[in-house]
Amino acid sequence: MKLEKIIINNFRNYVDNTFEPGPKINVIYGENAQGKTNLLEAIYYLLSSISHRSRKDGELVNWESKYFKVKGTVSFKEKKKKKLEIIYENSKNKSLKINDNVISTDKYFSQFPSIILYPQDLNLIKEGPALRRRFLNTEITRINPVYYEYLLNYYRALRQRNNILKKAVKKKEELSSWENILAQYGSKIIINRVYFLQELNKYAPSYQEIFSSGKEKIELYYKTQIKFKKEIGQRENRYLENDIQEKILELVDEKRMEEYNKGHTLVGPHLEDMGIMLNGRELKKYSSQGQQRTTVISIKFAQADILMEKKEETPILLMDDSFSELDNYRGKLILDLIAEKQLQCFITTYESLKLPSNCEGDFFRIEGGIIENG
Ligand SMILES: Nc1ncnc2c1ncn2[C@@H]1O[C@H](COP(=O)(O)OP(=O)(O)OP(=O)(O)O)[C@@H](O)[C@H]1O
Ligand SMILES: [Mg+2]
Repeated sequence: MKLEKIIINNFRNYVDNTFEPGPKINVIYGENAQGKTNLLEAIYYLLSSISHRSRKDGELVNWESKYFKVKGTVSFKEKKKKKLEIIYENSKNKSLKINDNVISTDKYFSQFPSIILYPQDLNLIKEGPALRRRFLNTEITRINPVYYEYLLNYYRALRQRNNILKKAVKKKEELSSWENILAQYGSKIIINRVYFLQELNKYAPSYQEIFSSGKEKIELYYKTQIKFKKEIGQRENRYLENDIQEKILELVDEKRMEEYNKGHTLVGPHLEDMGIMLNGRELKKYSSQGQQRTTVISIKFAQADILMEKKEETPILLMDDSFSELDNYRGKLILDLIAEKQLQCFITTYESLKLPSNCEGDFFRIEGGIIENG
C-alpha cells in the first residue's frame, strides 16, 4: 500500500497543507520543532485513526482551531485506490470515512497496514507490562479485528466483577456469571496473544541475527499464570479454548479469598505480559541500550512481514527520529531491507540523508509547518 496524498488541516502546527510523497523512501528533514514528528503523526493518524504519541485526540487540534481534518488517498497493489478522511471536533464528534462512507473505528483501524518506529518504543522493553499489553492489543487488532470485540467483552466483565468484589457483601452467584464471561473471552485473548508472539518469532530472530552479524538470538514469549502447551497452530482452536477457560475458572476459585481481601480480579490476561530472551537471558535485565533498540527494530520488521502475509499488502513504514540513532552499518542494512521489501517509508532526520545507490528517495524540508520539496 502507498500513501499518494495527504491534506492536513489544523492538525498540530499544520494549518492547511497538501503533501504528495514519493512511492519509496521519503526523507523528511528540518530543524527542531518545525513539524517533522507532527507530519508523521498526521500520516499515521490518517492510516490508523490513532496517534502514536498522544492518547487524547484533543491534543492534536491546532491551538488556534476548534477541529482538525486529515484526508488523503492510498493505493493498493492491484491499483485500487481508497479515499480516507477523519474529522475531529471533540470526542463526540469524530467522523471516519472511507470512500465517503462513514465507518467505525475498529473497522477503519485494521484496513491500512502501517508500522511506526519512534524513540519511545524502547519503553516497550524498559517499562512495566501495561505498555506491552497495549502493544499486543493494538497490533493483534490490526491483523485480527474481532480481537477488539474480545477485549471489549472481557474488560466489561472485569469491571463488573471488580465492582462486586469491592462491595462489603459479595454474592457468589453474581460473581460467577461474570467469571464465565471472563474465562470465555480471556481464553480467546490469551490464544491470540500466544499465536501473535509465535508469528513474531517466525520473523524477528532472523532480523536480529542480521543486525548483530549473527551474534544475537532473540525469542519472544507470553507470560501467563495459566499452564498449557504453548504451541498454537491457528488462532481459532476450540479444544485449547475450552482447556484455558477451565484453567482460568480453577485459578479464580483458588484465588477467591485473596480477591475478596484485595477487591479486584487476580487472574486473567489483564495482568499478563510478554517477555523477550536475548541469547537465553531476559533482555530487559541484561541487555545494552543498543541491543534493546535493535530488538525493537527486529520486532517492527517482523510485524511488517506478518502484515504482508495476512493482509497481502506492503505496510507503510514510519520512522520518527529512529534513523539518526543508528550507526552507519545498521542504517545501511535497514535502507536495504526497505528497498528489498519495496516499502513506502517516511524517515525524519535533522539533516538530509545521503541514500545508498540502490535506494530511491524523495526529499522534503520542513520549516514552521510548511513542507517544501528539496
Ligand atoms: N496542538 C498543537 N497546535 C499547534 N502547535 C503544536 C501543537 N502540538 C505541538 N505543536 C508544536 O509543533 C511544533 C513542531 O513539533 P514536532 O514535534 O513536529 O517537531 P519536530 O520537527 O519533530 O522537532 P524535533 O526535531 O525536535 O523532533 C512544536 O513547536 C510544538 O510546540
Ligand atoms: Mg520530532
